[in-house]
Amino acid sequence: MAHATYNFPKGFLWGTATASHQVEGNNTNNNWHYWEEEGHITSGHSCGLACDWWGGRWKEDFDRASEAGQNTHRLSIEWSRIQPTVDRWDEDALDHYRQMLRGLKERGLTPMVTLHHFSDPVWLMFLGGWEYERVVEYFETYVRRVVEALGDYVDCWCTINEPNVYAVMGYVFGDFPPGKRNIGAAFHVMTSLVRGHAAAYHAIKELQPQSRVGMAINYRGMMAARKISPFDILLANNLSRVYNDFFPRAVTDGVLRFFTNSKRVPEAKGTQDFLGLNYYTREYVAFNPFAPGNVFAKNFYDPEAELSPTGFIANEPLGFYEAIKWALQFNKPIIITENGVEDPEDSMRRRYLIQHVHQLWRAVNFNWPIEGYYHWSLVDNFEWERGWTQRFGLWELDPETQTRTKRPSADLYAAIAKQNSLSSEMVAEFAPELIESMFPG
Ligand code: FCB
Repeated sequence: MAHATYNFPKGFLWGTATASHQVEGNNTNNNWHYWEEEGHITSGHSCGLACDWWGGRWKEDFDRASEAGQNTHRLSIEWSRIQPTVDRWDEDALDHYRQMLRGLKERGLTPMVTLHHFSDPVWLMFLGGWEYERVVEYFETYVRRVVEALGDYVDCWCTINEPNVYAVMGYVFGDFPPGKRNIGAAFHVMTSLVRGHAAAYHAIKELQPQSRVGMAINYRGMMAARKISPFDILLANNLSRVYNDFFPRAVTDGVLRFFTNSKRVPEAKGTQDFLGLNYYTREYVAFNPFAPGNVFAKNFYDPEAELSPTGFIANEPLGFYEAIKWALQFNKPIIITENGVEDPEDSMRRRYLIQHVHQLWRAVNFNWPIEGYYHWSLVDNFEWERGWTQRFGLWELDPETQTRTKRPSADLYAAIAKQNSLSSEMVAEFAPELIESMFPG
């Protein structure tokens, strides 16, 4: 085996990412709780206490992150806690977040804060959520309140997490609330999300000119299943344009590009200081007029690819490199805001992590402007409509007893973060099966 070390630039950010509804527990005033009560979660699972961060267990988890060499953490603020009803603000909730952010700083973890990560307050849900005509105004008011209260601790804001997933899952496939299957509604919501982001961007910049503001996009590589089929090629390109390109392009030039028409939203132009990239996997797309979801597509993974236990994610590290390359076109610093895999046994995760960090290093090595990497996630948490059936944590969680157990990947990631590099020794220790392909000789 050849000995080598892939170094990252000084000051590279290594962290983990979480979201309020998934980790805090007892979030009973949002649309996801309502969705759960309606019985939409796999196996009837309940979010319950989640990781009990609201009960104070953030302290021990932040200790874990900092002892494991991480220097940053991405968390989200729960809108329904800050504004429990349309006419009420909860100062105690803001103070709770203040303590958490202070807790991060005391442990040497720089916070990155997401203002909207899938969950909406119940009062907004009843008004129509992101279809409601005044949602942008409400979102901006909430954002101002948060930035005024927490701005002393945060200067890197992510306005909206994965607006593309929010729209597609909630309004095309119907697996997220509100469970609609209506492309027109999806486009309407996408428009509001762009407007909401733009309003938040301008408000944050007004309050905190030195801060940096972006959004996190879920990028999925979409490749034509049959390389010579014009239908597959056209479909893969069109889907990728709307799924992957829509939001970053909108916040670059202020133009919304739908399948067949476009619309200008001038206030969105130039509202991105960095591009947040969430990458998990890539897939093939085949034209199929009978496929559900109204987009004539059958999507599937490379039959050769290694799949996560529930088949949710295919291990496609090259797709990560391609995603980063795609992100370069927006000429902004890139932050990998999420990447990871569900794997309770932690056998695939070690490989997945090594192979993805390797591709990240390749990209960094070209001097592409990548500032950091957030692994999803620190501790197992509540996986939306999939409940507790998928485990993404570096630490395993038993939600009943709240016991945490470290997985080997936590040590691997700690070695990467502490040494700011990926070495052949780490690969030999944590995934020896990769040594020959990664370090031949
Ligand atoms: C992303 C979400 C995140 C988590 C991971 C597995 O799409 O942003 O909350 O569910 O997937």
